[in-house]
Amino acid sequence: MIESTTTTPSDFYGGSRILLEGIIDEFLSCIGMIRRYQKSQTGWDPISSSTSRVKSPESMREKLIRDGLEPTLQNALAHEHDAAGVRLICPMVDDVYRTAELIRAIPDVTILREKDFIAHPKPNGYRSYHLVLSVPVFLSDHKELVRVEVQLRTIAMDFWASLEHQIHYKASHEVPDCVVGELRECADIISQTDQRMQRLSKQIRCMEDKKD
Ligand code: GTP
Ligand code: MG
Repeated sequence: MIESTTTTPSDFYGGSRILLEGIIDEFLSCIGMIRRYQKSQTGWDPISSSTSRVKSPESMREKLIRDGLEPTLQNALAHEHDAAGVRLICPMVDDVYRTAELIRAIPDVTILREKDFIAHPKPNGYRSYHLVLSVPVFLSDHKELVRVEVQLRTIAMDFWASLEHQIHYKASHEVPDCVVGELRECADIISQTDQRMQRLSKQIRCMEDKKD
């Protein structure tokens, strides 16, 4: 394992950073190819956009402490699964599940953990599909297995999650119950809208198929 024990604020990940950045590049490049292939086969791209990040050293340290662990690189790599993170935003709910299936079929990728917060939303209304993957990164003379957390969600779910995150992140104290309640309500409306958009999209595609 390329690893440095240096945990100075500027270099928490040390030599492991290239693996974390490498896995993100490799995974996104694979996703890019899958998107092109899907589009060519079906005329439909199941992903509308993607974002990625290596978790900031500050957030990783805070998370380790929250999890009752020493804030060291070794603990970050051994016990946390989201040092490398990718978010894939899909147009429709069906595309989220389709993309999860496409990821499952990638050779050499192992799914370590899977959580369906769409079928089972969090109490606050959060919806997304989470995967933790183990993906090989090929170095000159050997390969390393690196974990990456993948979050799949619709454009509408992403809109909600971004605002909800901002509200909690920016709030200097507890978020009032009325705000929590309204967010929950918005999440439910968004979910109903996602379902309606899904139905409309199917109808439109059906009409197009009949035209051909
Ligand atoms: P952490 O939440 O990262 O400590 O790990 P976990 O093992 O509990 O994983 P989980 O799958 O619950 O959440 C992982 C990530 O999903 C988080 O780091 C967030 O990016 C996102 N997430 C989970 N719950 C919420 C939520 O309620 N709101 C928002 N905006 N994002 C969430
Ligand atoms: Mg969590």
